[in-house]
Amino acid sequence: MNNLNTEVTFAGLKLKNPIVISSSGLTETVDKVKILEKCGAGAVVLKSLFEEQIMMNVDKDMSLNDNDYPEAQDFLRNFITTDHVNKYIDLIRDCKAQCSIPIIASINCHTQRNWTDFAKKIEEAGADALEVNIMLVDTSKEFTFGASEKLYIDILSTLKKTVSIPVIIKMSKQFSNIVSLVNQLQHNDVNGAVLFNRPYCPDINIEEMDFHPGPIFTEPAAFNETLRWVGIVSGMVPKMDLAASTGIHTGENLIKILLAGAHVAQICSVIYREGPDYIGEMLSTLHEWMKKQGYENIEQFRGSMNFANFEDENYYERTQFMKYFSNKDSFPPR
Ligand SMILES: Cc1cc2nc3c(=O)[nH]c(=O)nc-3n(C[C@H](O)[C@H](O)[C@H](O)COP(=O)(O)O)c2cc1C
Repeated sequence: MNNLNTEVTFAGLKLKNPIVISSSGLTETVDKVKILEKCGAGAVVLKSLFEEQIMMNVDKDMSLNDNDYPEAQDFLRNFITTDHVNKYIDLIRDCKAQCSIPIIASINCHTQRNWTDFAKKIEEAGADALEVNIMLVDTSKEFTFGASEKLYIDILSTLKKTVSIPVIIKMSKQFSNIVSLVNQLQHNDVNGAVLFNRPYCPDINIEEMDFHPGPIFTEPAAFNETLRWVGIVSGMVPKMDLAASTGIHTGENLIKILLAGAHVAQICSVIYREGPDYIGEMLSTLHEWMKKQGYENIEQFRGSMNFANFEDENYYERTQFMKYFSNKDSFPPR
């Protein structure tokens, strides 16, 4: 095990191993981040600061409108009275002072308002990189096709002009051509892409006839769609560093996503469920497998099963279950 090297680089950062804890409540305090580091995390992405929180801080004079709904007023008051922005800057500073793994800050946004200037403060606080999670559910009937892609490119190219730390995009999978968008982001010097973000989803309670939150955590079945796109994008846009996110729950998933071409794997739900010691279990699985296969470092196999290497076989592009339904008496395998 001693001659095994699990170091990786992602978006210009050096990590001792490819496990990154993704932005969530798991990374909202310095104490939690220290535990994650102690348990073996290669890097962390801090809990996101939201565009609205930054804008509230930018526009301190903003007064509450009497016509606003009471709930909205409570919500806004909470944003104004709690100094989220300065707390976030303190979190970055504390993590940098007390941890040695890379600390990636995160902003959740959906417009290109002047919150982007705030990225400079994140850089000054010492963050090693900035991850931007652009969340859009556009329901406008007059929507212009291509507007979401343009927004991504505009926000990311503005940020690249604002800061000199690496800038990473955490992407939605709801695009008609993910490869083309990643390619254009790469040409705009974006340093890394996270495939994919995961939006909060609604559910309906049929007894109470009310809306409830959908599942907060992912299920293992979410992994294969992530695998598909990491494999394709890694083959098609090899210059973009990739972090895989959504559905990575086991050491085997970690190995598969590296084979498909990811530089790192971001994990969240599984750590909520299993606790931070599970990082060590996933790493042991990786070590044992590398040893068995005779690999000494990750670059020896990373991407070896991506789309560029398996294009002819159509493994990554196949979308139909034809093979399993061609015989009407057969069921798909369990
Ligand atoms: C409780 C919780 C809080 C989260 N908060 C954030 C957040 O602040 N910013 C963000 O970009 N993603 C957030 N996420 C999404 C995760 O970072 C991750 O993208 C998603 O859970 C999919 O990864 P997984 O399958 O490993 O859970 C959150 C997820 C959970 C479960």
